[in-house]
Amino acid sequence: VIHEQHETKARFDTIRETIDGAIACLLDELALPAPLDTAIRYAALSGGKRLRPLLAIESARAVGGSGDEALGSAVAVELVHAFSLVHDDLPALDNDDLRRGRPTLHKHTDEATAILAGDAMLALAFEAIDRVDPVPNDAAHRALLNELTHGTRAMIVGQIHDTLGGFPESFSDQQRVDLIHENKTGALIRASCVMGAISACADPDDLTLISDLGSVIGLQFQIVDDLLDIEGDPELVGKTLGKDEAANKLTYPSVLGIEGARSALEDLNTRADSILDRFGERAIGLRAIVDALKSRRA
Ligand code: IPE
Ligand code: IPE
Ligand code: MG
Ligand code: MG
Ligand code: MG
Repeated sequence: VIHEQHETKARFDTIRETIDGAIACLLDELALPAPLDTAIRYAALSGGKRLRPLLAIESARAVGGSGDEALGSAVAVELVHAFSLVHDDLPALDNDDLRRGRPTLHKHTDEATAILAGDAMLALAFEAIDRVDPVPNDAAHRALLNELTHGTRAMIVGQIHDTLGGFPESFSDQQRVDLIHENKTGALIRASCVMGAISACADPDDLTLISDLGSVIGLQFQIVDDLLDIEGDPELVGKTLGKDEAANKLTYPSVLGIEGARSALEDLNTRADSILDRFGERAIGLRAIVDALKSRRA
């Protein structure tokens, strides 16, 4: 088991290095004005788990690819994610001072820089799909753009519900929190998986399974994020904790209680495992990601 854990760690570290290299390379090529370039590097090359790129690359492998074909998609989803975090931390949204154990971008620089760096990362994400590594054909390119567009739009819709409300009036708290989570976090995670699979020319059945798995992981991921905000170790999480309760956010633990949230997680774990069982050896990386997420503390 320990040997396997070492192998998995090495496998994921290699992917993380490749992603960081590709983002740095894209920025070198674009030669943006110094304050913008520096701000984007601060936000996008500052650690972070790189979950979405890992999912894109391992989803490509799960459907028979080498993983390399998903590099453009992997960079794209990470850039959208980095943009979403920079804006999420702004005073107008969550007003956070700490991210990945360091000052948030607007604290490190100023709000104007953070707003514009976020905007720029969104644009760069769409360029990255074809620029990091040319997409083999127009149909695949369109499909990837479509997924990234949907995932991004959903993330913004989720942030609106999270921050400002705007729910259908008949919705229960459970329906509201599901709507928030599926959109603000789930959709981009699902898109990461689907884009990886599309890059590797997945057949329709595999694509459906990968999409379902992505939805399950997305929901799982945000429930754990909400639990960590309550009971995480601040050193490991690298964010100021207790913010959700202070801001009266609708979260799984606030709606279902901590035990209720944990049991919802158990159900999702079971669903993820049963989807993974449909894939063979090729899904070894995806399986390792799902296992790591079950016990993540950061
Ligand atoms: C945090 O995302 C925001 C959520 C969507 C829950 P991550 O936990 O993936 O953040 P990093 O990239 O690892 O810092
Ligand atoms: C993340 O939700 C939503 C995004 C789309 C960025 P949170 O607001 O819970 O994320 P953290 O806890 O600040 O990372
Ligand atoms: Mg938020
Ligand atoms: Mg936040
Ligand atoms: Mg959170």
